[in-house]
Amino acid sequence: MAREHPAGDLDDACNLASTALEAKAVGNLLVDPRFHSDPAAYHALLRRLRAEAPVFWVEPDDYAPFWIVTRHADVMQVERAMDIFVNGPRVMLRKTAVDEQIRKVTGGRPFLLNQLPNMDGDEHRLHRKLTQAWFAPGRIKILDEELRGYARDLFDRTLDGDGRCDFMRAVASWYPLRVIMRIIGVPAEDEALMLKMTQQLFGPDDPEIKTEKIDVISTVQGFFDYFRALLESRRTAPADDLATLLAQAEIGEKEALSYFILAATAGHDTTSASIAGGTLALLQNPEQFDRLRGDMSLLPSAVDEMIRWVSPVTHFFRTPTEDYELRGQAIGAGQAMMMCYPSANRDEEVFDEPYRFDIGRPPHRHLAFGYGPHVCLGQHLARMEMRIFFEELFARIDGLELDGDPRWIQTNFVGGLKSLPVRYTSRAAVAA
Ligand code: HEM
Repeated sequence: MAREHPAGDLDDACNLASTALEAKAVGNLLVDPRFHSDPAAYHALLRRLRAEAPVFWVEPDDYAPFWIVTRHADVMQVERAMDIFVNGPRVMLRKTAVDEQIRKVTGGRPFLLNQLPNMDGDEHRLHRKLTQAWFAPGRIKILDEELRGYARDLFDRTLDGDGRCDFMRAVASWYPLRVIMRIIGVPAEDEALMLKMTQQLFGPDDPEIKTEKIDVISTVQGFFDYFRALLESRRTAPADDLATLLAQAEIGEKEALSYFILAATAGHDTTSASIAGGTLALLQNPEQFDRLRGDMSLLPSAVDEMIRWVSPVTHFFRTPTEDYELRGQAIGAGQAMMMCYPSANRDEEVFDEPYRFDIGRPPHRHLAFGYGPHVCLGQHLARMEMRIFFEELFARIDGLELDGDPRWIQTNFVGGLKSLPVRYTSRAAVAA
């Protein structure tokens, strides 16, 4: 296991196994991006919370306090009760200082972008309806051949013959990027710029990614400038993409621009992380690798197992509009609650042997895509993308093995692998 932070922090994590759960200590670990780059320590803490304090109040430094909800049934209960819980007041972890900076420029609102995850009620329904048909299984099916082409082109460039590569950087991060950019309408030559901007938004606490001094507001401004020009071009030259749909929709410019940013960010890192993390799970469980290679009809359940296993989105928040009781805890109106998806997806009450990676798990009840009215809009696309990716990968390679220590990104929101060194043998090379 690659450990990327000082031993002292890990000792803290290990000490949690024997000391009392304490609001400040647990809170500080949960918000620490470095803690998330050690999945074993992170999951050890979540397991303990599920067992001893499934609804637990934390008070981290530099962040507003919140309840962390770690049980599968509780996350579902909250996310389904849309008459009581809202998204608007708090969507994800953000430092109090950043929050204040944002409220200053928005005149008191807690978000820069008006987009689906921070919308509620009719506004949410209306905006979601705009693109829902685009992401329906029947609609995205027509992209099958195109996506297959992207995967093949990528493998031609990166997995030719026998060799080594960083599977995360060279392969897993590029394919979902091409797919989502195609859907939005961004040309291939602008992908590198999009990649940089999405990573600045989602991975700003990782020293290896934070290559220059950035702040959230200027990154968002960069996105806005780019997408404003794209919207303009689609008004005069429509195409078969989301940009055209949004250019023709009756919504404000800010909402349209926010939609782009949401699709570009939500549709990329999540899927890359699931592909890379799923590949790592196959490599660490060679019997599952062989099982899948021997029976590709298992691929749909394998894909869902990879997504459960990785659970790249660590949380979204919900806030009750009235006092509420959950597992005997009195939650006050307005107290934010963190829905912890990685924990729900290892819940012993729901998953048989939750720490076993099993590509044949019966129909999946995982919550990696969330639940209720905000459930992931791109879930069918993500599954289809991954299915095509692994079909093409297995058609191409004969052998794949780890070639060094994997490393995880430092972030407390959308997490996953930063580096996955592999050695591969291609089918063509074996045949020759
Ligand atoms: C394996 C990949 C993915 C995972 C694990 C994932 C996970 C999630 C989660 C946990 C949520 C919040 C759900 C909730 O609050 O209950 C979400 C929302 C969302 N996701 Fe995904 N996602 C993935 C891929 C995608 C893709 C490919 C797109 C394509 C555009 C996408 C677009 C969205 C959008 C637009 C929302 C906001 C929905 C709303 O608030 O109504 N996601 N996703």
